[in-house]
Amino acid sequence: TDTDTFITGLPKAELHLHIEGSLEPEQMFEFARRNRVSIPFATVEDVRAAYQFSNLQDFLDIYYAGADVLRTEEDFRDLAIAYFDRAAADGVVHAEIFFDPQTHTHRGVPFGVVANGLLAGMADAEARHGLTSKLILSFLRHLDEEDAFKTLTQAQPWLDRIEAVGLDSSELGHPPSKFARVFAAAAAMGLKRVAHAGEEGPPAYVHEALDLLGIDRLDHGNRSLEDPALVARLARSGMTLTVCPLSNVKLCNVASIDLHPIDTMLRKGLRATINSDDPAYFGGYVADNFRAVAGGRGLRRDDLVTLARNSFLGAFLPDAAIEAHL
Ligand code: ADE
Ligand code: ZN
Repeated sequence: TDTDTFITGLPKAELHLHIEGSLEPEQMFEFARRNRVSIPFATVEDVRAAYQFSNLQDFLDIYYAGADVLRTEEDFRDLAIAYFDRAAADGVVHAEIFFDPQTHTHRGVPFGVVANGLLAGMADAEARHGLTSKLILSFLRHLDEEDAFKTLTQAQPWLDRIEAVGLDSSELGHPPSKFARVFAAAAAMGLKRVAHAGEEGPPAYVHEALDLLGIDRLDHGNRSLEDPALVARLARSGMTLTVCPLSNVKLCNVASIDLHPIDTMLRKGLRATINSDDPAYFGGYVADNFRAVAGGRGLRRDDLVTLARNSFLGAFLPDAAIEAHL
């Protein structure tokens, strides 16, 4: 349709994408075969049928299990290449992607295997599509502070190729305050900071992410809407929210796409963006997410343009590069 063409034709940046969450079932079987790893599924259809979640933890359990097939530098490179090919087809010209090193180092896969594989995929995307990208090292918040510090130490040789640190995994019971010292250390190393907050957790966790982690960008942030003073603060400071509509529905944080608050966020002056989070698990890449809210919420074209523009305003790019994309 016209809207489809309009959406894919809009240049956009993707700012909230977990590379491990782009592992499609077909590739899961391919990596399992070549690495001789067994998986508890007989067919691709069985895998897809298992992707029914009632909350974030349901999803995380199956997402960490899926990541077990990722073993070699080539796996991480091929995973990234497959994501960037799909993103480029959706009109993504710049992507800032999360990776969860602890998911891999805890299985005996060295940090460098993960980082070098992803960096090779990023170089391929720039060469073949002109798609630029950056890496965000995300700490697993269900693990302790000491493990996060250990991960930051392992990352030292790659720090010049890592843009930011992030915070993901099980939100409830693991407030941002748990990682205040880790984020202070990352800031001292010159890294930018982002955190998942207000996805399932309360507005107080968003306040903590701002006050204790010094975040430059807020991942999800949906529950900020429950706190008018917080909304005003986010709007006033021009904080970018990386919103993930299909993820919110799949994880039952929003009852259905036609009840998604994306337009409420825009009307309240929040710098919201549209992202895919874990596209292989949630039923769609970034253009699917734009299409879902365009249809479900009846967004006008000027809203779609605003959402795409916001993605560049929120990107960790030099001002001149942002200007060039607007
Ligand atoms: N890890 C991957 N996707 C995530 C999400 N949506 N929330 C928290 N942790 C995640
Ligand atoms: Zn996420």
